[in-house]
Amino acid sequence: MNLVNKQYLLASRPTGEPSVDNFRLVETPIPALVDGQVLVRNHYLSLDPYMRGRMNEGRSYAEPQPLNQVMVGGTVGEVVDSRSPQFQVGDQVVGMGGWQQYLLVDANQRGVLQKVDSSQIPLSAYLGAVGMPGVTAWYGLLKVIAPQAGETVVVSAASGAVGSVVGQLARLRGCRVVGIAGGTEKCRAVVEDYGFDACIDYRQHPEPQSLAAALQAACPNGIDGDFENVGGTILDAVMLNCNAFARIAVCGMISGYNGEPIPMRAPQLILVNRMKIEGFIVSEHLPLWPEALKELGTLVASGQLKYRESVAQGIESAPAAFLGLLKGRNFGKQLVRLI
Ligand SMILES: NC(=O)c1ccc[n+]([C@@H]2O[C@H](COP(=O)([O-])OP(=O)(O)OC[C@H]3O[C@@H](n4cnc5c(N)ncnc54)[C@H](OP(=O)(O)O)[C@@H]3O)[C@@H](O)[C@H]2O)c1
Repeated sequence: MNLVNKQYLLASRPTGEPSVDNFRLVETPIPALVDGQVLVRNHYLSLDPYMRGRMNEGRSYAEPQPLNQVMVGGTVGEVVDSRSPQFQVGDQVVGMGGWQQYLLVDANQRGVLQKVDSSQIPLSAYLGAVGMPGVTAWYGLLKVIAPQAGETVVVSAASGAVGSVVGQLARLRGCRVVGIAGGTEKCRAVVEDYGFDACIDYRQHPEPQSLAAALQAACPNGIDGDFENVGGTILDAVMLNCNAFARIAVCGMISGYNGEPIPMRAPQLILVNRMKIEGFIVSEHLPLWPEALKELGTLVASGQLKYRESVAQGIESAPAAFLGLLKGRNFGKQLVRLI
């Protein structure tokens, strides 16, 4: 077929804030397939906050992204060539296709590609509400916070891919749900589009005491569960309003991903309020994914679970879109359209 694959490699590791210079675009000819291989044309690339951590050298829950290799990333696309009996040309698939236009893989590698059906659910949603971010929301809410009807749940980064699903699932389970997001327009969407009971614009409250007062007003019965995506002053303000036996699902700490210090100001509240604070990594709970995806898929297909996407066009736009995600310029799931 004489195809050329445009790919982004990690060229260097950032100190502090990353820049577009940390990435390098290359064009690589695609070789002819050998037995067992499948060629996928990636339609959408998912950009996710975890990628910032992978750019670092240091020890974490996952290995660092190697230099001069294709940036890691989830993708959805279509099989365009196959020498595997497991996949036919035209199959739609989700996988870890990376920051590139095509993925050439050995289909015998377990779990490398999953077939998906876009007749009821748009293909891109398999990277968002019916994909990793949706399962993250489902797991952290139901398995860590485990809310009861009538309890109050707070969610930070509430307009985002994970946060918007957390709030809607908690509402469906009869909770009062309060979001925290950056800016008037995001807060409006959180309440009007996703049905949260209230949303606080943290940019109006740079001090934890001010944010804590706003949370107190929005959570008259205190906070029973917190789905934490941000950390720092947002977590401090939440903890000041937590009830006895509150549960905090530590999903992300995006306010510290560039190495900013994010001290916890009042850890004594963990003891005073007998709180449970539990971090989790969604990829370590694979046995629960089918159950989560079944609920999420049903809710999206029936229109009960809403989501929003920010779509950058073309592989060349990936680095800038990724930097924007880390600054809150995305509004909902950040994708790159590759076709
Ligand atoms: N534990 C896991 O397995 C797992 C899996 C997936 C995701 N996560 C985590 O979940 C969180 C949300 O991920 P997502 O994919 O749904 O991203 P997202 O919410 O769609 O996008 C990131 C959002 O974070 C907010 N943000 C960025 N910098 C911030 C800062 N300094 N202070 C406050 N807010 C900031 C921005 O929203 P505002 O404009 O509202 O500030 C931005 O839109 C991240 O922390 C991510 O690392 C964890």
